[in-house]
Amino acid sequence: EVSASFVVVANRLPVDRVVTDDGSVAWRTSPGGLVTALEPVMKKNEGAWVGWHGAPDETLDPFEDGGITIVPVPLSTNEVAEYYEGFSNATLWPLYHDVVAPPAFHREWWDAYVRVNRRFAERAAQVSDTGATVWVQDYQLQLVPQMLRELRPDLRIGFFLHIPFPPVELFQQLPWRRQISEGLLGADLIGFQLPGAAQNFLRLVRQRLSVQVRRDRVTLPDGHVARAKAYPISIDSRGFHDLARTPEVTARSHEIRRDLGSPKVMFLGVDRLDYTKGIKQRLRAFGELVAEGRLDPDEVVFVQVATPSRERVEEYRHLRDEIDMLVGRINGEAGRIGRSPLVYLHASFPREEMAAMYSAADVMVVTPLRDGMNLVAKEFVACRDGDNGALVLSEFAGAAYELKQAYKINPYDINDIKSTLELAANDSEANKARRMRTLRKQVFDNDISHWADSFLSDLDAEVSPE
Ligand code: G6P
Repeated sequence: EVSASFVVVANRLPVDRVVTDDGSVAWRTSPGGLVTALEPVMKKNEGAWVGWHGAPDETLDPFEDGGITIVPVPLSTNEVAEYYEGFSNATLWPLYHDVVAPPAFHREWWDAYVRVNRRFAERAAQVSDTGATVWVQDYQLQLVPQMLRELRPDLRIGFFLHIPFPPVELFQQLPWRRQISEGLLGADLIGFQLPGAAQNFLRLVRQRLSVQVRRDRVTLPDGHVARAKAYPISIDSRGFHDLARTPEVTARSHEIRRDLGSPKVMFLGVDRLDYTKGIKQRLRAFGELVAEGRLDPDEVVFVQVATPSRERVEEYRHLRDEIDMLVGRINGEAGRIGRSPLVYLHASFPREEMAAMYSAADVMVVTPLRDGMNLVAKEFVACRDGDNGALVLSEFAGAAYELKQAYKINPYDINDIKSTLELAANDSEANKARRMRTLRKQVFDNDISHWADSFLSDLDAEVSPE
């Protein structure tokens, strides 16, 4: 049986299941930053990672992968529909992102959420050594901290929310608001992306629960203390930078520009195809600039990568149709033989190809209506070769809190997006360099290991009187 002194609990495992040519199943480390950040801690502490392996109705035994013990948690087809697609992604996701899509409240989904959270908590309890540190990740597992504390009071429990935590006025729509807030309070340390999110949470529990709140510490009736604090997440900045500098990626980046017809300005958007990302607003702004002759389609091109995501959830299907239509309209209206102003890629690409695109682009366009952090903005900055290029960034992305020198926009204001795209495309090299220098320093000084180290050392320092 697995026994680890450091355990990560997340909906997804750090490895993806791939079926090889001969039909056998293999595991490939997934490209996420979290794995990179936690690998050193994992290896030093015989770490284990508890998560869902992505295939419904399949039970798998734990196995080793690159010094980490992988502990798969099974989900039935019905649980995928109700816990993952339903409660996580059609209730919590829109509710926590400022209700930019209407959240759906279904009691069966909630029941599945409780059931699956309990399964994750039980599995984590089974694989944790006495006094182990357990780090629970994200909105899919908000009940796990409390469930785990009840099963194993000896554990040190951390929780990190990767998405925004909404204002009380929105959170209180949730019929299960009490259970969720109490679930989180089971942790010793609750991490948020931004100070504002931590404040939203503290205000919520102060108003609605019988707890004592002093600064960032919440004391429960049983004496347990939970601390709520911000830890803005980041990327493996050095890793991205070095990858972008390899001869292969550099060559590919030049090739991309050639294939695009060597434009004077290449705009780039990279997102999961999600309604929180403001993709429609951004494309509409670009389309109008071209239609009005403020951007010349002989000189500029906009590449939009939209990675397929949560495709069985209704809102996501609907969004895909809308964007397909918008792209067709914009390119159709350009009305000429030759290059289309918009290149739309509904696909996901390996890290190398992304690094080549980031290097090739002149203006990165990040316009979410609400975003916990947005790592794409940081990846673009890390991939720059010197202080060139411009980042257009929504005020509603968590990243805007740190990346103050970006060209900021309000994504709800199409005219603001338009004038800022124009400015970023035409600004002087000196102005762009001044901004980019500060952005790069920010991204290199605050990388993903800084994030993990700050959280884990604060967690280490929290001693609960049990
Ligand atoms: C966001 C969430 C993650 C999630 C990721 C991809 O970044 O914070 O928890 O894993 O999106 O979404 P998916 O539903 O495919 O896991």
